[in-house]
Amino acid sequence: MTEDDQIPDAWTMDEQRYERLTRYRREAARGGGQERIESQHEKGKRTARERVDYLLDDGTFHEIGPLARHQRSEFGLDDQRAAGDAVITGHGEIDGRKAFVYALDFTVLGGSVGEVVAEKICTVLEMAVENGVPVVGLWDSGGARIQEGVGSLAAFARIFRENVTASGVVPQVSVIMGPCAGGATYSPALTDFTFMVGDTAYMMITGPDVVETVTGEQVSKSELGGAEVHAARSGVAHGVGDTERAALDDVRELLSYLPPNHLADPPTVRSRDDPERTTEELVDAVPSEPRHSYDVREVIRRVVDLESFFEVQKRFARNLVVGFARLDGRPVGVVANQPSVNAGTLDIDASQKGARFVRFCDAFNVPILTLVDVPGFMPGTSQEHDGIIRHGAKLIYAYAEATVPLLTVIVRKAYGGSYIVMGSKFLGSDVNYAWPETEMAVMGPRGAVNVLYRDEIAAADDPESRREELIEGYREEFANPFRPAEQGYIDDVIHPAETRRRLIGDLAVFERKNERTIPKGHGNVPL
Ligand code: HXC
Repeated sequence: MTEDDQIPDAWTMDEQRYERLTRYRREAARGGGQERIESQHEKGKRTARERVDYLLDDGTFHEIGPLARHQRSEFGLDDQRAAGDAVITGHGEIDGRKAFVYALDFTVLGGSVGEVVAEKICTVLEMAVENGVPVVGLWDSGGARIQEGVGSLAAFARIFRENVTASGVVPQVSVIMGPCAGGATYSPALTDFTFMVGDTAYMMITGPDVVETVTGEQVSKSELGGAEVHAARSGVAHGVGDTERAALDDVRELLSYLPPNHLADPPTVRSRDDPERTTEELVDAVPSEPRHSYDVREVIRRVVDLESFFEVQKRFARNLVVGFARLDGRPVGVVANQPSVNAGTLDIDASQKGARFVRFCDAFNVPILTLVDVPGFMPGTSQEHDGIIRHGAKLIYAYAEATVPLLTVIVRKAYGGSYIVMGSKFLGSDVNYAWPETEMAVMGPRGAVNVLYRDEIAAADDPESRREELIEGYREEFANPFRPAEQGYIDDVIHPAETRRRLIGDLAVFERKNERTIPKGHGNVPL
């Protein structure tokens, strides 16, 4: 809605009502007033309405509740009763597909959340669930509205509850587009994906002043909760856009891979890439020496449809790569060990990142492609003391409970527990392939030889060359994919060049998979 929106002339109504409606519409379009809109622009931020207009396809926005505003004089806010209050809600289309949206308006009382704001957001969340349509929340908010007292805490609690009700029913995406504090961080954290805008977004449960008062620690807003911190360290942000537009573009792209709800299939597109394309170049892309590094994203890009890979949580737990892609136009979630970061070992952060991604895909019928090249779990006191057992179990749990098609390719090595975790056949994968040079075993050749032949190596005239001989023998005997293939632990040993073609053929079959599950309330994922 804009100030210039005309009420159709054909309307016949009493003049006063007509004027009142016109005035309300003008007020709603102005939010917290021209001065605050200008201040918003000066900070490099757009208004909530401008953001909604950019996110949605042109002319598709239908606003809900633009006239709602608080009714209580006890708040002491009689002079601040902007029509629509501090949030714009409604529905529209993103690339021709329906989406609900709520956008906090910072120009109205700092986008703070009270009764009316919560009522509007909860209405949209309920409608999204009832109609099976994704929801996008654009946050720019000082959190609970101070003037409304405990009522605004209750208001946030209602939003949290609706976020949780919608979880697993419709995809929920949040974008942080300004300073967000308190409940304005926890509601996004309950949604499936959170994006942040580079220089203007902050997420913190309490700001620097409170931190200093309580702990004495002095810290800047960006050090405490800037986009960099949440993208690279906390893992709270799934993506960062340099600009507001870039962040909203990411949301549009993400939604292009997702079904509207948990009962629907992800949207298939016509692929520009050849489903029969062979992938010979993968032979060189992955060095055969297990300790040599390479970027697994190159492997992903060559296997999936041209330019279809959309990585999420790029900067967090970089030893595991996750993201969405397409195989002959069908969306898949990709999980891949990244040998160029910590040799691709699984640690606490990678386990959490992988588990959450796998569970999301499973909730929304997105098949999972797992590319395995993993030396093991990260050893050491720091990981053990911080709970790698508890957190690693999340990834096992996520794969084991998944009922979507699981396609797994071991591209170079898979040892011990990490072999089991990474979409192995016995956790339920539908196909599990290995390339011919793969090493699969209980542990890596060097470690195994040191355990099995410690005395023999020590007694040898030349211990080092004896060790190397034994390692070579172990590789031949145990650390190869042929024995596991004979034993049925993997389905086939395939040439790297066949990878794309085989996966596309499998996906076409397994997308109709109907795995039986035992009815229960819910399992007890080791949180
Ligand atoms: C009412 C608020 C407000 C709030 C900001 N404003 N936050 N009004 N309730 N929570 C108002 C300001 O008074 C100001 O009004 C306008 O919004 C813009 O705010 P500024 O401070 O001028 O903007 P800026 O300098 O950009 O700083 C933004 C901010 C800061 C970092 C968000 O306003 C701030 O620290 N606010 C309080 C954050 C907070 O602690 N919230 C409560 C969290 S507890 P005028 O009239 O001057 O324009 C919570 C509980 C939920 O959320 C439960 C969680 C589990």
